[in-house]
Amino acid sequence: MSDARRVAEVLRAGRPGDDVLVRGWLRTARHAKGVSFLEVSDGSCFAGLQVVADPELPNFEAEVRKLGTGCAVEARGALVESPGKGQRVELQARELSLVGGVDDDYPLQKKRHSFEFLRTIAHLRPRTNTFGAVLRVRNAAARAVHGFFQERGFVLLHAPIITLSDAEGAGEMFPVAGSEEFFGSQAHLTVSGQLEAEIAALALGQVYTFGPTFRAENSNTSRHLAEFWMIEPEMAFCDLAGNADLAEAFLKHVIQQVLADCPDDMTFFDQRIDPGVRERLEHVVASEFERLTYDEAVGLLEGSGRDFEFPVRWGIDLQSEHERWLAEEKVGRPLVVTDYPREIKAFYMYLNDDERSVRAMDVLVPRVGEIVGGSQREHRHDVLRQRMAEAGLPEEQYWWYLDLRRYGSVPHAGFGVGFERLVQFMTGMANIRDVIPFPRVPGYAEF
Ligand code: 4AD
Repeated sequence: MSDARRVAEVLRAGRPGDDVLVRGWLRTARHAKGVSFLEVSDGSCFAGLQVVADPELPNFEAEVRKLGTGCAVEARGALVESPGKGQRVELQARELSLVGGVDDDYPLQKKRHSFEFLRTIAHLRPRTNTFGAVLRVRNAAARAVHGFFQERGFVLLHAPIITLSDAEGAGEMFPVAGSEEFFGSQAHLTVSGQLEAEIAALALGQVYTFGPTFRAENSNTSRHLAEFWMIEPEMAFCDLAGNADLAEAFLKHVIQQVLADCPDDMTFFDQRIDPGVRERLEHVVASEFERLTYDEAVGLLEGSGRDFEFPVRWGIDLQSEHERWLAEEKVGRPLVVTDYPREIKAFYMYLNDDERSVRAMDVLVPRVGEIVGGSQREHRHDVLRQRMAEAGLPEEQYWWYLDLRRYGSVPHAGFGVGFERLVQFMTGMANIRDVIPFPRVPGYAEF
């Protein structure tokens, strides 16, 4: 459509003398005596391109001198070597035009804004350094997710968003209004694509979903969203050990790819958001994940001498403070905790011979705590029926899930990764609301 170049490409490959056209928004405009310096950002990379304008431009006084932060511009000219530090080249404008001006009340002035304030202007925050970087890291991570599974022969499954069943059996679902009349049954927004992924895995062997999921839990925390994206691989003929290996390889792959694809964004997160985050990620990639059973983890926690807010005893669900102590202080690297008490885990997890624990696994990482949850699935028809009865789940609703256990059932396993938790871990952003473009949380669904 045009010969415009992306700023990322100009900064990477542009050479003095090249004639280029760039388009973008002004991050800053500095009007000095007889010359204006404009930083143009088009979102393609962390840095902007410095555009230099001088009085030879016919619209210099009438237009250029009035440009300010947020204006959309188009600039054409020759690249010249930049005398300033931090950039190799800058653009000496031969033509500079205003495409879209900015009203006086533009809220994104040069000063630092709090993340809380920026959430209230989610339509403008992608223009800030931080959110541009977050969105590019999200993109690189999504690409890495698909790359990881596609290279290994996993088939992408599009799981439904409107569903009749509660995949987690936890009852934290958003009802779909009018579904009784429309579908003939009360429908909800999905909490997980796992049960459908199991259907596909028992035909295609290895599948994964990557889509939005919804939880109506009233958790107003820095790690919970009402709408989040989840990645759920599922493998037939696989046990818990194979599942944990896949989760470890997956996390390492995505992290490595993001470090390679977004070096400048990661430098920003490392310097300005969470000092040390890059080293922490490199450490994760290089280290072997520890594996502990729930019994072992509880033993370590009990022996820690720590005064936890939630006291530790066998049978409790591990709280964030316990997970973080294990990952950050005891083990010092990510760990996989397996074989949780049956009472605290979902009905579909494989019951161990001890009958008190199930083949569940959580991957815990420093800072974030639980980032992956998964299990080997109960593939024995009789045991599954018994577990569903205990959980109070009606068989009529899960008839097809039970059928899978009657027709060619095999051991199978899978896990779910919260995509935002993963992006949070990689960027060091403190609040999960700041790693998704438009957060949905209790009391808020604007934009
Ligand atoms: O542990 P969860 O609930 O597991 C499942 O949904 C299984 N069906 C997964 C499977 O075995 N296929 O959720 C999985 C992950 C968590 O580890 C966490 O990273 C993320 O999803 N998660 C959330 N992320 C943001 N906001 C929330 N409210 C989340 N709840 C879970």
